[in-house]
Amino acid sequence: MDSIEILTALGTPAGRNDPYPYYAALHELGEAVRPSPGMVLVVGYDAINSVLRDPGFRAADDATWDQALPGWQEQPVFVQGADWLLNINGARHARIRSLIARAFTARRVAGLEPAIAAMADDLLNAMADHGADGSAVEFMHDFAFLLPVTVICELLGIPDGDRESFRPIARDLAGIFEINDPENMPAINAAAVELLAYFTGLAAKRRAEPRDDLVSDLLVVSATGDGRLTDAELLHNLTLLLVAGFETTTNLLGNGLQVVLTQPAVGDAVRDGSVPVAAFVEEALRYDSPVQLTSRVGYETKVGGVAVASGDDVMTVLGAGNRDPRRFAHPDTFDPLRADGGPLSFGGGAHFCIGAALARLEACIAFPRLLQRFPRIAAAGEPVRRDTLLLRGFDALPVTVR
Ligand code: HEM
Repeated sequence: MDSIEILTALGTPAGRNDPYPYYAALHELGEAVRPSPGMVLVVGYDAINSVLRDPGFRAADDATWDQALPGWQEQPVFVQGADWLLNINGARHARIRSLIARAFTARRVAGLEPAIAAMADDLLNAMADHGADGSAVEFMHDFAFLLPVTVICELLGIPDGDRESFRPIARDLAGIFEINDPENMPAINAAAVELLAYFTGLAAKRRAEPRDDLVSDLLVVSATGDGRLTDAELLHNLTLLLVAGFETTTNLLGNGLQVVLTQPAVGDAVRDGSVPVAAFVEEALRYDSPVQLTSRVGYETKVGGVAVASGDDVMTVLGAGNRDPRRFAHPDTFDPLRADGGPLSFGGGAHFCIGAALARLEACIAFPRLLQRFPRIAAAGEPVRRDTLLLRGFDALPVTVR
């Protein structure tokens, strides 16, 4: 197969369902390939790392959209997205990122631990009730989706009573991370408008009466110091934190559980402590990354032996880099005790995931509880993969828990 055939196959439902054989075929062609003019696919671990750490490669930003997406200003999701950390570069990115990082501290993340454990236990209790008679429980719906979205709400300080109505809107907005059918855009834009209105109201409340939450801290940080955040930058990045933070973590929980369901010995090893849960989580991130790819705008250079031209769409396929046989021994084997760990799943360089510690914490709290609580957890029917390429996960993962 040449690179165009492989890319075409990756875009089919079968390719999205299991991209790994196609990634393996790409690795045989080299660290990077140029399937068509204007596009470079980077699949080698080292090459991906070098692109993500090289400031010459820029995230697509509003200037890129002026060329590629005329009329983007008419769409609320792009107006907000133009301020998102993911879509800005250079000094502006550094300013906003450092302000957000000052509020989103390791202390704040670690402080969530007891709340995450309590939420996980509540969800496991409900799963135990639903499945007490041996009937199937839907893990994605009943656990993997609810835990991260509730944790993000807790982090941001969204009151309990508002959380239920939040979940479907947040899910709609997260649709922007996929390669979209134009017919999905009205729902995505409506969600963007609704979330912005919500955060505008929440920020006004916290400004009047600060609490111990991220929104209150960000308001303080944004009003002091040299850099400052504009109100729009602050509010827009709150919507980003919400959408970047839950579907990805949902997929880490689902993809990790699927390993346990298909390889029960792995679950037993986590239960008896012979595999530390952190090692299990790192290997789950590598083996089936919740984020499969990200991209950058190219400049005149070479990557993995392939020439890149200015303005090229450079796709760094994190999910492929995680299975690079040049980097990992037996890349298709799930081996939590491997000595050569180090997944690319949270990206690298200036845009490295700001929520990586939170996602890891959630998974490290959730898996031991889940596995101890349900020692006989087993698949109850065929899992249903989401038909998506960028975010990889399941729509349904039915299990029995008795
Ligand atoms: C397993 C879960 C997660 C995965 C796999 C993941 C993956 C990623 C990746 C690959 C990037 C870099 C994108 C790029 O370079 O273009 C990123 C950035 C980001 N992530 Fe995560 N993420 C996860 C969880 C979270 C959580 C829990 C939050 C927030 C609470 C979060 C917030 C962000 C933000 C704000 C950025 C943008 C950072 C920047 O551009 O400076 N993520 N994430």
